[in-house]
Amino acid sequence: MRVGLLTGGGDCPGLNAVIRAVVRKGIEDQGWEVVGFRSGWQGPMSGDSRPLGLDNVEDILARGGTILGSSRTNPYKEDGGVDKIKKVLANQGIDALIAIGGEDTLGVAKRLTDDGVGVVGVPKTIDNDLDATDYTFGFDTAVHIATEAIDRLRTTAESHFRALVVEVMGRHAGWIALHSGLAGGANVILVPERPFSVTKVVEWVERRFERMYAPIIVVAEGALPKGGAEVLHTGEKDAFGHVRLGGVGSWLADEIAHRTGKESRAVILGHTQRGGTPTAYDRVLATRFGLHAVDAVADGDFGTMVALRGTDIVRVRLAEATAKLKTVPEDRYAEAEVFFG
Ligand code: F6P
Repeated sequence: MRVGLLTGGGDCPGLNAVIRAVVRKGIEDQGWEVVGFRSGWQGPMSGDSRPLGLDNVEDILARGGTILGSSRTNPYKEDGGVDKIKKVLANQGIDALIAIGGEDTLGVAKRLTDDGVGVVGVPKTIDNDLDATDYTFGFDTAVHIATEAIDRLRTTAESHFRALVVEVMGRHAGWIALHSGLAGGANVILVPERPFSVTKVVEWVERRFERMYAPIIVVAEGALPKGGAEVLHTGEKDAFGHVRLGGVGSWLADEIAHRTGKESRAVILGHTQRGGTPTAYDRVLATRFGLHAVDAVADGDFGTMVALRGTDIVRVRLAEATAKLKTVPEDRYAEAEVFFG
């Protein structure tokens, strides 16, 4: 059997651990040939691929990024994109695909399965916003990086008695903000799910200053003020219709400075949250996902995604996994609110 492998969407620590697990188990247990397609869905559309042997996956377990490259290519937006994929798979004798990605890449995987291509999905995203899995790999690493940044920013904020606004990733879901904010002892956490009142944020900030502490405000890039709109980096949309967010932290820091008369600075963590080596948790989760994806392909269980439920890896239908995003629920946000101000 020849099995193709690709990584799509934003990169994420742990992608190489999945690739390694698929190649090791695919070749050694199943006797497969494994083929790596480059740059997400661009690879199977253009035929850009290379065989992946045991040598290619030595020393990649702890490496960030993806040895296959990634892109946000959407074959359903390209002229004849799906036919091109079918032709490439037939020409290269590929029997099945393993697609490692987030909501967009797996949304394509689901549609391709409906269109007759055998695909198994593996969930990745630092945002942790994929429904049907308790956690995606990459999230734990991002939270660690953001928490370490908050810890570091706290000491400089205290020294200068400034407010520090830390902007973290999270387009539609505030999981990174929630977890890093809780772990870092933030005084306010703002998430896309809950439009915030600037007046209330300023009240919490002032309360903190009165108690002689420098406030730390953690804000997800997709958070927005009540009655306002998301702050965009550019209005341009990618192939999946997403605009590039970024800037709410700087905007909020200016508002705080203006309304309190205190110094306020913003730090945008950006891609530092996605780069570099994965945590041990993410390496283990990614490895287990890779091993179970091989089982799913070997069983011919296409149209499924491997998922974490408790401590077990299970299979769910891609249709279920991509039907809606997993956002921060009210009760989880309420836990964090106890520490605001
Ligand atoms: O989907 C993961 C993510 O990291 C989001 O949190 C963020 O909005 C987006 O990717 C950024 O993507 P890009 O690197 O393509 O600008």
